[in-house]
Amino acid sequence: MNPQLCLAALTLTGLAAASGQAPTLKQAAQQRGMLIGGAVSSTLFDDLDPEYAGTVAREFSVIVSENGMKWKALEGTQNEFVYGLTDATVNWAQERGVKVRGHTLVWHDSVPAWVYQLGTAPQMRGAMKNHIQSVMKHFGSRVMIWDVVNEAIADTPGNPLRANSPFALAGPDYIDAAFRWAHEANPAARLYYNDYGAEGMNGKSDAMYALVKGMLARGVPMTGVGFQAHLDSGYSVKDSGMLENLRRFHDLGLDIQLTEVDVQLPASGATPANLARQAQVYRDLIGACVSVKCSAFVMWGVNDTSSWRAGGKPLLFDDDYAKKPAYGAVIQPLQTR
Ligand code: G3I
Repeated sequence: MNPQLCLAALTLTGLAAASGQAPTLKQAAQQRGMLIGGAVSSTLFDDLDPEYAGTVAREFSVIVSENGMKWKALEGTQNEFVYGLTDATVNWAQERGVKVRGHTLVWHDSVPAWVYQLGTAPQMRGAMKNHIQSVMKHFGSRVMIWDVVNEAIADTPGNPLRANSPFALAGPDYIDAAFRWAHEANPAARLYYNDYGAEGMNGKSDAMYALVKGMLARGVPMTGVGFQAHLDSGYSVKDSGMLENLRRFHDLGLDIQLTEVDVQLPASGATPANLARQAQVYRDLIGACVSVKCSAFVMWGVNDTSSWRAGGKPLLFDDDYAKKPAYGAVIQPLQTR
């Protein structure tokens, strides 16, 4: 073979194969222009568990602080920001060339009590603007991807915006305003609306589609949509119409990210059949992600024990950090052309 062609064909995975090492998730995803990774706990640096940090460093090109960037964690008292632990996570990532997804600036959950005590729309808007802009400016270029608003759509019939959100007090345009404040704080940052239960074609995804279409029509600065994808192994990507759904958002010109992926096993546990079914769901998810050129595939944890639903063993690595069948199901389609 022409040596130049040969060199061009040596992709990262090719290099890994040539060196006898199996490619990692991040090497495989890089070929697709996709980030891959997961949520990490703020104990990532705990020396007691070096395998946790080692797995993240080896496999992930993007991380999310699972709880460290929530309003309650950063601004428990009004206008007193506490960044220590989260800064350590962000710096750890930066030193290793791992990107950070900021999660999340405006979410009705994990909000400190003082936010609920605000009594007027101007007070709420002032607090929101201050929180969004202080946090984004603090992290600056270290965090360039943000879930600006999370889970604002209710699960009740018709899927209106949540009435029980403290941010409803800020007025019906609070989502638009949050994105505008975020853009003002860091015009180069990539800004997402993020939600669960909207992966397939359903009432909630219809409501999300209408929401973001309206935002775009109003000139609201936004980059894309995050689909959380907290699923179970009985989920069918095909039957849910997920690909069709992702495509309609993509066709609006929005970037797509899968942001909190996990696929829970049934109560019968980690049987070979259940693990195979879990792997199939992961395979279909990564396939859908590739089809719409999604820019990130982010799982909600690292290994099963670290998951918020550890009993369901929903991730790619088992309790001992061994690769599960689902790992192969994710990496293979990324490598296949
Ligand atoms: O840190 C405190 C600890 O000091 C205290 O002793 C303990 C007692 O309950 O609570 C600890 O905080 C908990 C925190 O997780 C850290 O473990 C909170 O109670 C608990 O509510 C919190 O749960 C998180 C949840 O969001 C709420 O913020 C989960 O870990 C986290 O996985 C989950 O993530 C959410 C995404 O942000 C949004 N989408 C859904 C997803 C899953 O619910």
